[in-house]
Amino acid sequence: MTELKNDRYLRALLRQPVDVTPVWMMRQAGRYLPEYKATRAQAGDFMSLCKNPELACEVTLQPLRRFDLDAAILFSDILTVPDAMGLGLYFEAGEGPRFSHPVRSRADVDRLPVPDPEQELGYVMDAVRTIRRGLQGSVPLIGFSGSPWTLATYMVEGGSSKAFTIIKKMMYADPEALHRLLDKLARSVTLYLNAQIRAGAQSVMIFDTWGGALTGRDYLQFSLNYMHKIIDGLQRENEGRRVPVTLFTKGGGQWLEAMAQTGCDALGLDWSTDIADARRRVGDKVALQGNMDPSILYGSAERIEQEVADILAGFGNGEGHVFNLGHGIHQDVPPEHAGAFVEAVHRLSGQYHQ
Ligand code: CP3
Repeated sequence: MTELKNDRYLRALLRQPVDVTPVWMMRQAGRYLPEYKATRAQAGDFMSLCKNPELACEVTLQPLRRFDLDAAILFSDILTVPDAMGLGLYFEAGEGPRFSHPVRSRADVDRLPVPDPEQELGYVMDAVRTIRRGLQGSVPLIGFSGSPWTLATYMVEGGSSKAFTIIKKMMYADPEALHRLLDKLARSVTLYLNAQIRAGAQSVMIFDTWGGALTGRDYLQFSLNYMHKIIDGLQRENEGRRVPVTLFTKGGGQWLEAMAQTGCDALGLDWSTDIADARRRVGDKVALQGNMDPSILYGSAERIEQEVADILAGFGNGEGHVFNLGHGIHQDVPPEHAGAFVEAVHRLSGQYHQ
C-alpha cells in the first residue's frame, strides 16, 4: 500500500471520517492560470500538451503549487478516446473541439475500432505514471473519461453542439446504430479507465456533461445504462486500496436515485441541485461532490466565503462530502479567487467533522 500524505479526498468518497472537507476544482489546470498558458505555448497546441507526459505532468501540478488542493486530476481530455478511434480530433481557435471524420451511419459505427489503451492511448498512461512520480504521495490522482453518451454527442455532431439534432435524429430514426456506438464506447472506456487505474489513478470520474439534454427515459437507456456497464467492468482495488468511482451527469439532479444504484461511490452535482436535498435522497448510499456555481468565483472573497458556508451547512454534519465547483472553472477567473475558495472550504468545514 502506498502511503498518501493527504488521503482526505479518497476517505470522503468512501464516507470515512476526515478532519476538514476535501476540495478540488474541475478544470483546475487550465487557462485561468498564466503558468498554464505559458506551458501550453511551449507545447504548441492543446493536444500536443496532452501527448507530452512531462508537460502534462507540469500543468497537472501547477494548481497544486498555488492552492492547498486535496486531489490532482490527470491533465488530458475526454476526446482522446474518439481521437484514438480514428476520428481526427482538432481544436479550431475559439470554436472548441472538432472531428474531421464524424460518425453518421451504422457503417461508420461498425468500422470503429476499440482502442488498445496501452497503444493508441499509451501517452495517457505515460502521463499518469509521470504525474504519480511527480506527486510523491502528496495527494491522490484522479483519472477520468467521458461517458459513452457524452463522447457520442461529439462524435456524431462532429464537435460541440447546443441542440444535439444530429445525434437525436440517429437516436429516434436508427436507435440500433446509436446503441452499437454506445456499446463500443462503453467497452473502450472500461479498458481505458482500467488502464489508468493500473498506471496509478487512485480514483476515477466519469463525465457525462450532456446527459441532461435527454428525456428521463432516454437518459436511463442511452446514458446511465452504459455508465452502469462501465462501472460493472472496472477494477475497484489497486495498491491495496479501494479505487472510488464518481459519476457526474450535468443537469442530472432529477436522476440521483437511479445514478446511486449503479455501484458508484459518489455522485458529482452541478449547482442546480440543492445539496441538502441530494443528501436526503441518496446520502446513505453514496458520497456527494460539488456544487458551487463556478461563476461565484467572479465575486469577492466575502461572497465566495458566504457561498462556501451555505453549501457546507446544506450538506451538514458528517462524512461523504467532497467540495467542488458544479462544473469547470471559467477561464477569466482571477487565480486569487480560486485560492480564497479553497482556503474557505478548509477553514469553515472543520466544525462539521467533530
Ligand atoms: O479538470 C482538469 O483540470 C483536467 C483536465 C480536463 C480537460 N478537459 C482539459 C481541457 C478534463 C477533465 C476535461 C474534460 C472534458 N473535455 C469534458 C468534460 C468535463 C466538462 O467540462 O464538462 C468535456 C466536455 C471536454 C471536451 C472539451 N475539451 C471542450 C468542450 C473543450 C473546450 C474548448 C475551448 O476552447 O474552450 C476542451 C479543451 C480543453 N480541455 C481545455 C482544457 C484545459 C482548453 C484547451 C486550451 O488550452 O485551449
